[in-house]
Amino acid sequence: MLEIGCGSGAFTTFVARAVGPTGKVYALDIEPKMLDQLKAKLARPENRDIKNIELINKSAYELPFADASLDAVYMVTVFQEIPDRNRALGEIKRVLKPGGFLGITELFPDPDYPWKSTTIKQVTAQGFLLDGSSGNFWNYTVRFRKAQ
Ligand SMILES: C[S@@+](CC[C@H](N)C(=O)[O-])C[C@H]1O[C@@H](n2cnc3c(N)ncnc32)[C@H](O)[C@@H]1O
Repeated sequence: MLEIGCGSGAFTTFVARAVGPTGKVYALDIEPKMLDQLKAKLARPENRDIKNIELINKSAYELPFADASLDAVYMVTVFQEIPDRNRALGEIKRVLKPGGFLGITELFPDPDYPWKSTTIKQVTAQGFLLDGSSGNFWNYTVRFRKAQ
């Protein structure tokens, strides 16, 4: 899995444990300082069991992965921070396997918070298929799929 804009890793450790030892989470962020914070978090005693996170300092515009190589990509309160969202979606589509998932989570207090309908419109306009959503007005996750 790839988390774009992992920040200090508020969600990354949960996902790493969920995918288990045979899975892997690439934690990518454009800001080295955020990755330093995640590195420090992973060094804490309670997280020493986590061995399946790889930190990557890159932008969403240049994902360092082969075409059709990832099962899932997700972002939490990141998508609206990316100025050229279509370019990022193009990269995400390139690296996802056919049928792979894209999850976008938004939380209301975030200054860039978009309506769920806005997120769906932006992403499906680039050819992703809407696969479902969960949550409520205050926080939601929309799941998309790359076509088979
Ligand atoms: C609001 S924070 C969210 C951090 C984390 N996902 C969370 O929910 O705690 C947004 C993060 O996205 C990163 N970011 C913004 N634009 C980016 C881009 N174009 N490529 C990669 N990361 C980006 C920022 O550096 C920041 O760490």
